[in-house]
Amino acid sequence: MSHHKGFILWFTGMSGAGKSTLAELLAQEFKSRGYRVELLDGDEVRTHLSKGLSFSREDRDTNVRRIGWVARLLARNGVIAITAAISPYREVRDEIRAVADAEGCEAFVEVFASAPVAALAERDVKGLYKKALAGEIKNFTGISDPYEPPEHPEVTAFTSGESIQESVDRILKYLTEQKLIGAA
Ligand code: ADX
Repeated sequence: MSHHKGFILWFTGMSGAGKSTLAELLAQEFKSRGYRVELLDGDEVRTHLSKGLSFSREDRDTNVRRIGWVARLLARNGVIAITAAISPYREVRDEIRAVADAEGCEAFVEVFASAPVAALAERDVKGLYKKALAGEIKNFTGISDPYEPPEHPEVTAFTSGESIQESVDRILKYLTEQKLIGAA
């Protein structure tokens, strides 16, 4: 029933690429299995833990390091910590992975929510790409600010080319193969 390890499931990807959707579905799936799980969503973290931080590189790094810190605390207590922030800079993601490894965290599983920026701008769920392209939002990731994709993510979800369920299934398959979770 509650057969799982404590580990970090780290989503990264541009705004609207499906991080939160995938993270929420997986959190639901884990809860329904009786697993211990917490979701740290970028938007929510920015209204609480990181309230007041901007989207400068320095503030994004601070935001992401805070998320990493909480995720490590959770994982070391046997919880599945799912994070869903853009986390655009490779260096900080790799730093969090290295610290988690050094502390004996079972696993840092990086999931890249990958979609071409053109597809994201067309879908534009929050209407932010339109504003960013019009120059109304400065430093918008993928438009006027960098996004550095992971070089070796454990899993890539091709969120504009496959169904949400296909992405979820591939992530579950990876976690099961790695024996981080039990078979359903
Ligand atoms: S991160 O870069 O620090 O990891 P985070 O995931 O917390 O970003 O927040 C991203 C969300 O903030 C986006 O989904 C979007 O709704 C909103 N947002 C507002 N301004 C920006 C911006 N300049 N760049 C990216 N996202 C922004």
